[in-house]
Amino acid sequence: MSDTLKEVGVIIGEASSNEFYFSSKPNEMPSRWEYVLTYSEEDIDGQPKKVEVMAQVERVISASQALTKELDFSVIEKIIEAGLADRKVWGKARVLGYLNESGDLQQPKKAVMPGKPVYIAPADLLEKFYSYPEDEAIKVGYLITRSEVPVSLSIKGFRRHLAIIAQTGSGKTYLSGVIVEELLRKGGTIIMLDPHADYVFLSQTNEKKRHELSDRMTIFRNPASTGRYTNAEVGKVEPYEICFSDLSLDEICLISGIRSDYTNIVSGLGVAFEQLKNEKAVFQPEDLLEKIQQADSWKDTGVDPKIINGAKDAARYLARVVKMRVFTDASTNVSKMLRPRHLSVVDLSGLDDEVSDYIGFRILSDIYENVASGKFEYPVFVFVEEAHRFIPAQGSTYSAGIIKKIAAEGRKFGVFLVLITQRPFKIHSDALSQCNSQIIMRLTNPQDQNAVASSSERLGQTLLEDLPGLNKGEAVIVGEMTRAPIMARIRKRTTREGGSDIDIIGKMKSAIEKANEETPENEGERLRNDLRGFLGDEEGKQ
Ligand SMILES: Nc1ncnc2c1ncn2[C@@H]1O[C@H](COP(=O)(O)OP(=O)(O)OP(=O)(O)O)[C@@H](O)[C@H]1O
Ligand SMILES: [Mg+2]
Repeated sequence: MSDTLKEVGVIIGEASSNEFYFSSKPNEMPSRWEYVLTYSEEDIDGQPKKVEVMAQVERVISASQALTKELDFSVIEKIIEAGLADRKVWGKARVLGYLNESGDLQQPKKAVMPGKPVYIAPADLLEKFYSYPEDEAIKVGYLITRSEVPVSLSIKGFRRHLAIIAQTGSGKTYLSGVIVEELLRKGGTIIMLDPHADYVFLSQTNEKKRHELSDRMTIFRNPASTGRYTNAEVGKVEPYEICFSDLSLDEICLISGIRSDYTNIVSGLGVAFEQLKNEKAVFQPEDLLEKIQQADSWKDTGVDPKIINGAKDAARYLARVVKMRVFTDASTNVSKMLRPRHLSVVDLSGLDDEVSDYIGFRILSDIYENVASGKFEYPVFVFVEEAHRFIPAQGSTYSAGIIKKIAAEGRKFGVFLVLITQRPFKIHSDALSQCNSQIIMRLTNPQDQNAVASSSERLGQTLLEDLPGLNKGEAVIVGEMTRAPIMARIRKRTTREGGSDIDIIGKMKSAIEKANEETPENEGERLRNDLRGFLGDEEGKQ
């Protein structure tokens, strides 16, 4: 512990074990959110012991008794000229606690005492407060108010899941990249559901060189995905395929929207499914639809007319699956993703929401089954970007059920969720409240703030009020991953970002250059080419 403590004030007025007021000289008052330290006495193992109580300045107030708002400006000027203006400054600090000998955070039971000095918290004590042993630490950045103090989170906190919440453009994806880097270094198996291809460049450094962990990363893409980037841009891309004939009847009913109590429809579909399985090893939804359309011919084989009618009704439901265009002739085994110390980015860009949702459902269900049955024994971290799409507050999706199951039971087996969203108000509240740690970045929308407040009792009113004031890359972190709430500035990534905003100004400048290249002559040429193209099209139609 530093021996040069800087005294900045004295505890005044009423103080409790949770909060206290302190007075400072006007030029020594620490700023809001600064960490301060005071000493108190606690009973430890029946003995009174001096402890270092850490607190955070929540409010700073200044006032004058001579310069009151009732006075005329000229009178105020005279008071100042005569040197009679008084100024006092005081602050309100919230007690965070003290660390016991084993480094656990303890809440004081006794009130801190008026008259005791208040010091600026030294960096070494703050670092002890906000970091964890190397094996356990996820190094995310630095304290906003004390940039020399590194902040880490406890990997153990993932056992109760994590939510990363912020309005668009505040740094959620950037931060998730930081966490992925840390987890991969520590041996995590990570699955990233990535609707916008924001993570496809993680295997590269900021300088577009090969990242030292690139061998531990794979990008998966369904053949139906048009992809935001080409395979050549991304590098190594593996297909993620689902073979329709590998699905069970229950799964086909689920994706077709056939409820289990539609017994005749389920049975009718079942007959067609069994027939098809006996005829072909590999088939597509179109084949099943064709089979159903021949249901009238089943009369000869004694099938109950109700079931035949059920099969005909199934056609309407199955049409939706035919349109999904996600199925191929082979299924990718999830063991390709479930590898120790490995990141699998599932690039869902360019797919319909429904198809992305279905792929998410398949992957998460397979992962859960493999981990719960003990086939895969290492911790798995499942990141769901745009989580409100997969598990919305209203409406149903394929993946909502399995996400809820992982949220409720995953920790028993070692599957941990990281839900990322810009619209906490639109995500299912059960899923959000199962996330016992939250990293919240800039958030101005009151509906979203309320959704966050009601899902986390740890986020006090003052922190909530401060969310709109956070800058890009700054975060409030609460919950089981930290000993006390932290305001952190997220560190720089070593991996390349994907999907950052387009350079609008640069692109518009090149649009001007392009437009200027169009002289009247080549504009004429362009028109002629357009006309040729048009006539060609017309000729082609004839
Ligand atoms: N900690 C940081 N350090 C440096 N730059 C950052 C940091 N966090 C975010 N940025 C920059 O801010 C921009 C927006 O960040 P990011 O894409 O992570 O936001 P987002 O919250 O995921 O937004 P969206 O909701 O649109 O996906 C990016 O261009 C990124 O480079
Ligand atoms: Mg993002």
